[in-house]
Amino acid sequence: MISSVISNGIKGVVNIPGDKSISHRSIIIPSISNGICEINNILKSDDVMHTLKAFKSMGVRIDEIDQKLVIYGKGLNSLKKPKNNIYLGNSGTSARLLTGLLSSQSFDSTLTGDKSLSSRPMNRISNPLTEMGARIKTTTSSLPLFIQGTNLAATSINIKIPSAQIKSGILLASLNTKGETNITENKITRDHTEKMLDSFGANIEIKKLDKKKYIKIIGQKELVSKNIDVPNDLSSSAFFIVCALINNNSHITLKNINNNPTRNGIILALKKMGAKINIFNQKINNNENICDITVETSMLHGCEFGPEYADLMIDEYPILSIAASFAKSPSIFRGLKELRVKESDRLKLIVLNLQNCGVNCRAENDDLFIYPTDKYETKNNVIKTEFDHRIAMAFAIMGTKLGPLEIKDSKSINTSFPNFRKEINNLGGNIS
Ligand code: S3P
Repeated sequence: MISSVISNGIKGVVNIPGDKSISHRSIIIPSISNGICEINNILKSDDVMHTLKAFKSMGVRIDEIDQKLVIYGKGLNSLKKPKNNIYLGNSGTSARLLTGLLSSQSFDSTLTGDKSLSSRPMNRISNPLTEMGARIKTTTSSLPLFIQGTNLAATSINIKIPSAQIKSGILLASLNTKGETNITENKITRDHTEKMLDSFGANIEIKKLDKKKYIKIIGQKELVSKNIDVPNDLSSSAFFIVCALINNNSHITLKNINNNPTRNGIILALKKMGAKINIFNQKINNNENICDITVETSMLHGCEFGPEYADLMIDEYPILSIAASFAKSPSIFRGLKELRVKESDRLKLIVLNLQNCGVNCRAENDDLFIYPTDKYETKNNVIKTEFDHRIAMAFAIMGTKLGPLEIKDSKSINTSFPNFRKEINNLGGNIS
């Protein structure tokens, strides 16, 4: 993919796809609930389709009718042993959540993934599940995982790594486990799973105290399905928001965007940098906050963001780094350890590619320092992505200012945002 400079900004209403995190949960939770669930606006990307295929392979009836997905759930114990290994492509969310769910089933299963997913750590989910009695075998602490389904024992789990995927995996395991599972989250992460379980009637109680979260869940209560409207994805929106901020004469509108307070750090951060972002039409649907957003070209200034921001916007650092490269003063982002174990080592690739674009920046331990200038001289115009969709999209936005940039392995964008290129071009962009 080649991303070239745009001369007259981006303008119009952006078609942002459904939220990826909520789409995964909208397949997983109704598949183990009772009743029929109609889902509107599900994200049809590679990652979510891997979750969908996984549940079809475990005997769940899922129909695609027009733009809707209809899931016929038959309860906590209705899944069937899949005939083959479950292949999850590039999707870390599918892998961690399914590991939890499958460890408390009455059958064995094997999870596999692509090269990138097979190099990501799975002991972060298998270790706490093992504390509950799960039987999970792996040779390298990563995929493939061999899960011997069994009855787990309810216990107390203290989650040390800030990760919604770990928390959600444990919650899904505890649904089919007799007794009271208590989860302590030392840093609060995105709470889509808790919100959906609560609205499906799970026996779940949540308390927040001193920036920690305590979740109590009593298992073996059957869930009741509800229809779901998936809101649009703020993480996907962030690429367009930054594109509008850094390109002159831009003015865009984004509608029906998920503005969940455990996840909206990118809006807070960009506003702190001086972005003209207007949030309006705020409402709540299916327990999730939703809003419309307008954005216009803005002169940004650099900022320091401490580790407390990382939990609120972990997926947005690649695109935030692009925004910081066009600010009028330096930025420091601290506490980015988790960025190293995403679809790629994102901290490494941000620094490598920014430096390639002529941006003076460095990573020191897990902190990122960016020193912007008025004029960049790109060293060469090839962006290395290691098949990471968010690195590819972030540097495509960089290309709108410093292009042409050749974004390698850009097919990865299909994992979260298949229409990305079309959307940018509809608004005045120039990506071929
Ligand atoms: C996700 C949680 C985050 C995020 C990922 C989606 C989820 O991962 O990076 O893109 O849907 O739960 P971690 O939980 O590992 O931080």
